Amino acid sequence: MPSIAIIGAQWGDEGKGKITDFLSDTADYVVRFQGGDNAGHTIHSKGEKYSLHLLPSGVLRDTTINILGNGMVINPESLVEEINVLKNLGKNPTIYISNRAHVIMPYHKTRDQNAEDTQNIGTTLKGIGPAYQDKAARVGLRMGTFVTPALFKAYLATHFEGVKGNYEGTPEALFQTYLPIIETLKDLVTDTSVILAGAFEKNKRVVFEGAQGTMLDIEQGTYPYVTSSSPSAAGIPAGAGVAPKHIEKVLGIVKAYNSRVGEGPFVSEMEEAKADVIRKIANEYGTTTGRPRRIGYLDLVALKHAHRVNHFDAFAITLFDVLSSFDELKLVTGYNLNGTVIDYVPAELETLSQCEPVYQTLPGFKEDISHLTDWNALPETAKDYLKTIEHITGVPVGMISVGPDRRQTISMTNIF
Ligand code: IMP
Repeated sequence: MPSIAIIGAQWGDEGKGKITDFLSDTADYVVRFQGGDNAGHTIHSKGEKYSLHLLPSGVLRDTTINILGNGMVINPESLVEEINVLKNLGKNPTIYISNRAHVIMPYHKTRDQNAEDTQNIGTTLKGIGPAYQDKAARVGLRMGTFVTPALFKAYLATHFEGVKGNYEGTPEALFQTYLPIIETLKDLVTDTSVILAGAFEKNKRVVFEGAQGTMLDIEQGTYPYVTSSSPSAAGIPAGAGVAPKHIEKVLGIVKAYNSRVGEGPFVSEMEEAKADVIRKIANEYGTTTGRPRRIGYLDLVALKHAHRVNHFDAFAITLFDVLSSFDELKLVTGYNLNGTVIDYVPAELETLSQCEPVYQTLPGFKEDISHLTDWNALPETAKDYLKTIEHITGVPVGMISVGPDRRQTISMTNIF
């Protein structure tokens, strides 16, 4: 039962797509279990660059089965678009969509925009929150209903008025618009929980691919500046329809520094001049929204919080090559809360906003490390940075990504 969860340990955009793609080389299944097209993975493969939002990162491998689990909220138009892009590139991935996943309709986007006008969370405006709202209020539209035209029609007849918000379209027009999309998707919609149970029975290799990150988790993140699902490992059983015991290993994906899009407290946020250097080198702009990301020093207090709720077996440190332009490297090792140093993330936003970073400063490394594939070849100062992360969090570093390509990876542990 070799399975591994790939979990963002920060605020998303940790480079999970590259690591999932790297590990899916030996995976039979890649499974998404939460979120929707608010996610954005950029994968570089054989000189090509692919931007994925909904599809699991296994779609670039011909032999991998890709599953969109019941915990996702799926915009059917975006999904068909993504599938078509891959088809035009000559790829024909195997994809299954849970009949229990919820559907994002245009009125969810309208409601997302309207909520933002007053709430200012800085959402991706993809309709994610409102779709999960309908799910929790038990008035949502599920994939199985959506792809059965008679059921979809009946859903619109009974629910449209209650869920449409300020959306101005009609249910009849919606129904007609979606008919061709339903035709494309209907054969892919099934009970994916059954497929996965079969996979585990046959001892297949399964990768669970988290979107966003633990600090955006609706339970464990910096609420209310979070997404509306659970990107932490705890979201997997509920969102993929598998038993918790099927999650064998959890790999925490950690960007070598911090970034965050959207509003909300960000204790380790960097001075803008330095942030801008990183933003330019690492192209730190949202894959989904194009917004410039806020940049911070690596926050080990938040990482310890993420470790506590996920129990990581190892970290994969990504974008490590980006740090090679700095004379010194800073890590946030504590939060100064009105004169007292704390090592946990306060739950209350008001308290978190008062925290000031406590730094440990280490010498930087100037060498280009982007061609390295061996830990031993890393500069000593680079090793020290990684060892400090290990020492303070108690999590071993098992992989290091030193560039966007699959080959630019230092792998110290055989994860499976
Ligand atoms: P929503 O998921 O669109 O509702 O946005 C809620 C918060 O999560 C906002 O701060 C977004 O910027 C953030 N967010 C959502 N998806 C991602 C992602 O894939 N990477 C980074 N941040 C994200």
